Amino acid sequence: MGCVTPLTQMTAEPLLSLQDLTVRFRLPQGETVAVDGVSLDLAPGEVLGIVGESGSGKSQILYALMGLLASNGRAGGRALFQGQDLLALTEAQLDRVRGQDISMIFQDPMTSLNPYTRVVDQLAEGLIVHKGLSRADARAEGVRMLDRVRIPDAARRARLYPHEFSGGMRQRVMIAMALLARPKLLLADEPTTALDVTIQAQVLDLMAELGRETGTAIVLVTHDLGVVARLCDRVAVLYGGRVMEEAKAEALFDTPSHPYTRGLLAAMPRLESPLTPRLGTIPGTPRSGGGDLPGCPFAARCTERLDHCTTTRPVLQSTAPDRRSACHLIEAAT
Ligand SMILES: Nc1ncnc2c1ncn2[C@@H]1O[C@H](COP(=O)(O)OP(=O)(O)OP(=O)(O)O)[C@@H](O)[C@H]1O
Ligand SMILES: [Mg+2]
Repeated sequence: MGCVTPLTQMTAEPLLSLQDLTVRFRLPQGETVAVDGVSLDLAPGEVLGIVGESGSGKSQILYALMGLLASNGRAGGRALFQGQDLLALTEAQLDRVRGQDISMIFQDPMTSLNPYTRVVDQLAEGLIVHKGLSRADARAEGVRMLDRVRIPDAARRARLYPHEFSGGMRQRVMIAMALLARPKLLLADEPTTALDVTIQAQVLDLMAELGRETGTAIVLVTHDLGVVARLCDRVAVLYGGRVMEEAKAEALFDTPSHPYTRGLLAAMPRLESPLTPRLGTIPGTPRSGGGDLPGCPFAARCTERLDHCTTTRPVLQSTAPDRRSACHLIEAAT
């Protein structure tokens, strides 16, 4: 889409550049659009938060990048990783990128850990296959990493099977596994929702800390604006499969410009609380997918709606250096 204004302040060459990314699903009654023309850049080492209510398309963005869409799904647009379009890679090429340069942490660690293999061997496998380490060296690296993610008595526990770990520990194992190969990019999808709230913050802080140490850029998908405020450099607010607003985290929280972002922040009682309740109390029902809509997907719930909001699609455009917003109100004010 030629009308998307790129961020002007991006200093380094982006590590990841999503350009008009779409995800469509084929259904018996026709096609649905889950991700509708998302364009975002991520610099090396940067932490980008993607927030939005359930069904806004957050997970599908990550699945599209990793080649993990459901069989009735199809991605369009471009997802350039170090200049190479992930959407155009063969399965074998994608496998190499997934093993070496990009890692993903899923919501439920049991779906990604093999229940029949000792944790240490799961950790070692990637290093043997992708980095050519000997089994002994790879295992030693694995144990070191378990220690770094603060698994007590790491050398002994490494020999256990995943079900012998608590939920919080399994999530740490996932983080260890994801960062062991020192990937350039980590995609984390609600990585702690399965955990006790008191453990969530610790695990996320640890992920961000290790990410900083390894120079890994992170895309962190979450419902939780408190997490974003604490850990992210930049935030994209998604609604109905489209980016409503994108800004540096501080700027977004200080002066949210889009009515949807303002609604999300108003629905969030206290930002400084480490145990921030989840968002989602804006009146009305969240919309899934913005495709086929002539106007703004948020128009039906927006208290500041203008006449043309339901008929004309607002374009995501720069409102200040390093900020973009897709809203007719903001267009009208400038
Ligand atoms: N296989 C599929 N077929 C049809 N629609 C799908 C399929 N998978 C996902 N969708 C739709 O895509 C939209 C976006 O889903 P997605 O999983 O990205 O939401 P999300 O923002 O991650 O939500 P949550 O916060 O609940 O995880 C939803 O409307 C969902 O119903
Ligand atoms: Mg999701």
